Amino acid sequence: MLSSLSSTISRLNLFCPKPLIPPSLSSCLKTLKPLPIIPRWSCLHSLSTHSTSRLSTSLKPQFDALVSKDDLVVLGIETSCDDTAAAVVRGNGEILSQVVSSQADLLAKYGGVAPKMAEEAHSQVIDQVVQEALDKANLTARNLSAVAVTIGPGLSLCLRVGVRKARKLAGSFNLPIIGIHHMEAHCLVARLIERELEFPFMALLISGGHNLLILAHDLGHYIQLGTTIDDAIGEAYDKTAKWLGLDMSRSGGPALEELAQEGDAESIKFSTPMKQHRDCNFSYAGLKTQVRLAIGSHNINPEIPISSASSQDRRSRADIAASFQRVAVLHLEERCDRAIEWARKIEPSIKHLVVSGGVASNQYVRARLDHVVKKNNLQLVCPPPKLCTDNGVMVAWTGIEHFCMGRFDPPPPADEHEDYVYDLRPRWPLGEEYAEGRSEARSLRTARIHPSLTSIIQSSLQQQ
Ligand code: KG4
Ligand code: ZN
Repeated sequence: MLSSLSSTISRLNLFCPKPLIPPSLSSCLKTLKPLPIIPRWSCLHSLSTHSTSRLSTSLKPQFDALVSKDDLVVLGIETSCDDTAAAVVRGNGEILSQVVSSQADLLAKYGGVAPKMAEEAHSQVIDQVVQEALDKANLTARNLSAVAVTIGPGLSLCLRVGVRKARKLAGSFNLPIIGIHHMEAHCLVARLIERELEFPFMALLISGGHNLLILAHDLGHYIQLGTTIDDAIGEAYDKTAKWLGLDMSRSGGPALEELAQEGDAESIKFSTPMKQHRDCNFSYAGLKTQVRLAIGSHNINPEIPISSASSQDRRSRADIAASFQRVAVLHLEERCDRAIEWARKIEPSIKHLVVSGGVASNQYVRARLDHVVKKNNLQLVCPPPKLCTDNGVMVAWTGIEHFCMGRFDPPPPADEHEDYVYDLRPRWPLGEEYAEGRSEARSLRTARIHPSLTSIIQSSLQQQ
């Protein structure tokens, strides 16, 4: 049995840095803190010989009897970009605590994320954020079942801060650890708030660094229908907001959304990106350039904050904001429309489109996409704004989902050295590209450091 356990853990390779198998896995497994009902390794064992997607058939009753999901309590840690976040979530979806420390002041000052400074900011607050999450949940680390932490994609320097903290805690309290894909977490948090949301479903994930259209077949099995060939929509919002002299203290997106309400969205005729490409990919670099030109031609000086602008100047800025937003979102609408068509060819049974990631907290985005979804007889699932922007809940919840499938790594050694080389995945695709939807407008950023999450999990399942 132990040999099959070892090979399962090594094949999953969701988190552990080399060497993947601790010197004595058996002692490690024996020392795992037992779940209230049955030791955790039983969960691993039941899955080591069966595909997780097949769990719904013969194994399911046995699995349910072995592990009570409700009894799990998972700490989630997120530091992939500019927010330091932690949360404690119960297996039944109850959010016990949620803490986010934002670096918006740094962003406002430097106009973007400077990795070294962001790392420092994470390091300064990580202990406090995690402690506060535990305190607010009225728990100590001793009460946890596992620690989940984002291992990619994101900035290496920032990811490292969260992973170091997670491993330290997991090592000290002998807790299993679950390495999380940031974009999967944005997607799966929708299953926490919408319990009816079953696989397969579609998701549009829109944030500062990513624009992804995916078909979620199953947990850990995603097909990428579209991605951005240059910038993500959140980056375009942030840059436009900065050039319009907006208050960036809450990040550019919300400030731009607010100003756009004052403007005429039809006043400036920006062209919609990638009209000639009949695929589901995105591009925002060209729209950014159009905005820059419009700002120049309206003689707007970004150095003058909007609060000091004349009423005519303010009006021009609002018109640009509204016109930008209309076209930026129209691009999403058009791509979603086509992606729904594609997804239905692959999975005719899909019923939902999840829209998540920071930009999904925008009310205009939600309203426009709701329209697209209704037109296609689907249902929109949008997490509340606090769960759309980066947070620890999504990490903890995704940890719970994987943990229940036996995908976790054993506790790290309690005395792990500070300089340990962690398995961080700054560029880590979520799924494989949909072959029939391959675009002629290829991204130059194709270098991959890691195989996709989907390929890792699928190949581990095939070997079982
Ligand atoms: O998911 P997220 O919190 O972090 C990343 O993973 O990037 O997304 C942050 C992005 C930022 O670009 C921010 O400006 C944008 O989400 N954002 C918004 C809004 N709230 C946040 N964009 C448009 N409208 C909003 N209300
Ligand atoms: Zn994010």
